[in-house]
Amino acid sequence: MTYSFPNIKTKLPGPIAEEIINTDKQYVSPSYTRDFPCVAERGEGLKLIDVDGNEFLDFCSGIAVCSTGHCHPDVVDAIKAQAEKLIHMSGTDFYYQVQSTLAQKLSELAPGNTKKRAFFTNSGAESVEAAIKLSRYSTQRSRLLAFTGAFHGRTYGALSLTGSKIVQKAGFSPMLPNVTHIPYPYCYRCMFGQKYGLCGFECVTYLEETIFEKTVPPEEVAAVFFEPIQGEGGYIVPPKEYVVRLQELSKKYGFLIVADEIQSGMGRTGKMFASEHFGLEPDIICIAKGIASGMPLGAIIAKAEVMNWPYGSHASTFGGNPVSCAAALKTIELLENGLVDNAAAMGDYLFEKLKKLEPDYPFIGDVRGMGLMIGMEIVKDKKSIRKDPDTRNKILELAFYEGLIILGCGPNSVRFAPALVVEKDHIDCCLDILKKVFRKL
Ligand SMILES: Cc1ncc(COP(=O)(O)O)c(C=O)c1O
Repeated sequence: MTYSFPNIKTKLPGPIAEEIINTDKQYVSPSYTRDFPCVAERGEGLKLIDVDGNEFLDFCSGIAVCSTGHCHPDVVDAIKAQAEKLIHMSGTDFYYQVQSTLAQKLSELAPGNTKKRAFFTNSGAESVEAAIKLSRYSTQRSRLLAFTGAFHGRTYGALSLTGSKIVQKAGFSPMLPNVTHIPYPYCYRCMFGQKYGLCGFECVTYLEETIFEKTVPPEEVAAVFFEPIQGEGGYIVPPKEYVVRLQELSKKYGFLIVADEIQSGMGRTGKMFASEHFGLEPDIICIAKGIASGMPLGAIIAKAEVMNWPYGSHASTFGGNPVSCAAALKTIELLENGLVDNAAAMGDYLFEKLKKLEPDYPFIGDVRGMGLMIGMEIVKDKKSIRKDPDTRNKILELAFYEGLIILGCGPNSVRFAPALVVEKDHIDCCLDILKKVFRKL
């Protein structure tokens, strides 16, 4: 089967889109990062239709949120059915079945055999805030470790852990105290100048022998916040050994591991949680994005022994909203009934195709990822591997005008994060457009 889209019928932006963009420019916060004039109206699966009727192939799925594709009919039905019964009650003060059922489901799905509990939020940042509070409360320690390149959100606690782009922090000080950033195991650009396979994991030794001996007393560390695949930082996959060593250190010094699976979770990497690829059982997992196919919902899932905060110590009016919970339950059902497996299979297919391009184009430095979380790093040349954000940006822009929606991640990487319903034909089409774009560079 081949698809009738992308189908670009007007100049971009089209006349209706142009009008909306003009209003937006006057009234909406200038802090948003709209890199192309895309004014979305409707979506179906991988197809995104703009207000002028142009049809795009969407390989970003609302920044890895629309896990089941745009407006999956089963999710839409679940949302409608719940909205007709109960839209809000506040799970903080009252019980309702969808929230309890979802908590049970998430607790059972989380990696490892330890009993878990869930706390509900509205967003990724709010999940990270909850994890900061819970890790401090439960350990009665104050210090937090995070990674260079990390993105955990934009509220103050989450922003303090973020180490991604300076514009996100500049002018907003002071941050939360007692946060220390350590090098992410980014082997393509090892901060210690080492090569994976020949190195002695200096990144781990640095933590133990420099940070813990010179600047941060390990017995004061509450938690390390760790993205099992670094998302906004550039879709970077750490070596498995690093994760094993990090777990050893957490046991040795008694700090918690908080896995930020806000982007890598809910099946995207070909397993329900990316942590599973590394044999990691986090003490706390932060999720949001893909959990409810686009309805606003986040959660933390923690070991029951860790989630020991008392009655009244933390809550959220909208967190665990019934309609979002119903969408999440249906999303999980779809993930379990084939979409996680599809993410693994289609992820392999996409990865192989992208990897095959690598030798033919001097600006493709690295292709990496797991499942449908794949990054392509764009460089000036393969020898110097100097980052080339301009060429990366050009790729994104040209792709958009050809009808393919892809976003960047990190300073110079292209991210491929299609919905988990993606099929081979979509991938072939994406690759055809990409090759066309590369010829134009
Ligand atoms: C890994 C990770 N953590 C946290 C966040 C913040 O999520 P939100 O924008 O919902 O606050 C994001 C968003 O991109 C993310 O990718």
